[in-house]
Amino acid sequence: MKTLICPSLMCADQLHLFDEIKALISAGADVIHIDVMDGEFVPNIQIGTETVKAIKRDFDIPLDIHLMINSPERKLNYFNFGEGDFVSVHYETTYHPARAAEYIKSKGAKALLALNPATPLYVLEDIYASFDGLLIMTVNPGYSGQKLIPATLDKIKRARALLPDGYYIEADGNVSFESAKIMIDNGANMLVCGSSSVFSREFDYKTSTERLKGL
Ligand code: DX5
Ligand code: ZN
Repeated sequence: MKTLICPSLMCADQLHLFDEIKALISAGADVIHIDVMDGEFVPNIQIGTETVKAIKRDFDIPLDIHLMINSPERKLNYFNFGEGDFVSVHYETTYHPARAAEYIKSKGAKALLALNPATPLYVLEDIYASFDGLLIMTVNPGYSGQKLIPATLDKIKRARALLPDGYYIEADGNVSFESAKIMIDNGANMLVCGSSSVFSREFDYKTSTERLKGL
């Protein structure tokens, strides 16, 4: 399975999202990662439902909606995701992960279960089969620009060994050109690229994206 490059919109210029998304698409992004935060599960609030709907309306690139919100199973119908999109809900935010996955898949999207760095892989045992993939937070969620938690690199490797072939494993947080190589080698096939790669400002979006694709 090829590695999907998913630039994180949280790191883009929030006053010029339309132009930023256009530039990311022409730079070769595979998927646009959109962090949705409620200020409760994580101490931050950013992009809301109307912005996600507008992005869906104006662009046909797949969206990767990362829901960092409590009780996501009650709020999935706030969004208009569909075929080709990815939607992740955090294990730590719901009593009903299987119901959330069922709804996401009923809309034709891929359902991912997201785990905070401190949430052990064994929680997957009786729920992974309801999902299409796993999002492994490699930083504590809520902000861009944080430092990678080194132990999460091995967590990716252990997850890949546990999960069936073809299962998506997404790494999210401080995906640099260096850490991306390790994440791919350890089994990640979706990379959320933010302030330490695509948005590092060291290279333009196209150069960064091509560099990541070449890893
Ligand atoms: C953090 C978000 C990430 C973040 C990545 O909670 O889930 O998507 O935007 O940004 P960097 O790459 O700067 O960690
Ligand atoms: Zn994210």
